[in-house]
Amino acid sequence: MSVKTEVLHILERYKGESISGQELAEKLGVSRTAVWKAINSLKEEGYEINGVSNKGYSLSISSDVLSSEGIRPFLNNEYKDIPITVHKTIGSTNTEAKLLTMKNASHGTVVLSEEQTSGRGRMGRSFYSPSSSGIYMSIILKPNLNLSSSVLVTTAAAVGVLKALDKFTDEKSQIKWVNDIYINGKKVCGILTEAVTDFESGTVESLIVGIVLNVKTKMEDFPDELKDKAGSLLLNQNDNSIRSQLAAEIINNILSISENLENKEFLKIYKNRSLILGKQIIYTKNNKVEEACAHDIDEFGRLVILKNDGKIEHLSSGEVSIKNIVQEK
Ligand code: BTN
Repeated sequence: MSVKTEVLHILERYKGESISGQELAEKLGVSRTAVWKAINSLKEEGYEINGVSNKGYSLSISSDVLSSEGIRPFLNNEYKDIPITVHKTIGSTNTEAKLLTMKNASHGTVVLSEEQTSGRGRMGRSFYSPSSSGIYMSIILKPNLNLSSSVLVTTAAAVGVLKALDKFTDEKSQIKWVNDIYINGKKVCGILTEAVTDFESGTVESLIVGIVLNVKTKMEDFPDELKDKAGSLLLNQNDNSIRSQLAAEIINNILSISENLENKEFLKIYKNRSLILGKQIIYTKNNKVEEACAHDIDEFGRLVILKNDGKIEHLSSGEVSIKNIVQEK
């Protein structure tokens, strides 16, 4: 670990409190000049570090830069050592995670970025990912599943995010199959799950679960075409470690649920908090727009629809919207 990373680690742990240069140097077994250089370099990266004479340095409570040091303290013990990289800007965290899987990245590896310049959404759409207002994160899972069971991981990921949101907001979040999360009729979270498969064995080598969560994006900052569809948590703006805490909670939940997929408890939560079950929906199949009733979610996370002719069908992918409500992004 570099001196800079170690200094940040300590400052994050004592966020808002002062710690002297001498103390930092002693703790890390380096010179005060090395500490001073590390502090300057962190300031250049955007960390709000105050130097108080005679007292030392303190990382401002209002400093809100995503970092692995800021996230790690909130991870469950069994995940404390997962590899986490945080970028200032990147094309797409999912693309980066895919590259990492080719270099044998381990289960639980996480890639985050403050901003994405080519964020990707479902159905080949591009995804608006402005700087420092949301969580753009990809988690690599090695679930040992066949392709058809991987819809279930997407379902599990949606429940993981929902459970994290329940901890931070009293607003009721709901899931729109397959993996969008809505609060008060606005989409606050989207998930893009991509599989790296072994064609010979027909198994999934890795799954990349890419998550966007709009945390602090103000309505006026969304592009015009998203203003009436996209939403943001806009949680207590004074708590600036909120993104780190949320990211950690989402990581904890997704790893824990996906490692215990045989425990179908999460499917119950998914169904209970569904935005569409019991409603008339519009969906597209073979380029044809059709209508049906969203009847159930089956044990593989597929949407069971009851068609107007009385036939039942199981959908494993696609896009649905509630009839008469335009909610697509
Ligand atoms: C959707 O609603 O269409 C899914 C959007 C998923 C966006 C996330 S942001 C992090 C990860 N990296 C990407 O390029 N996409 C996903």
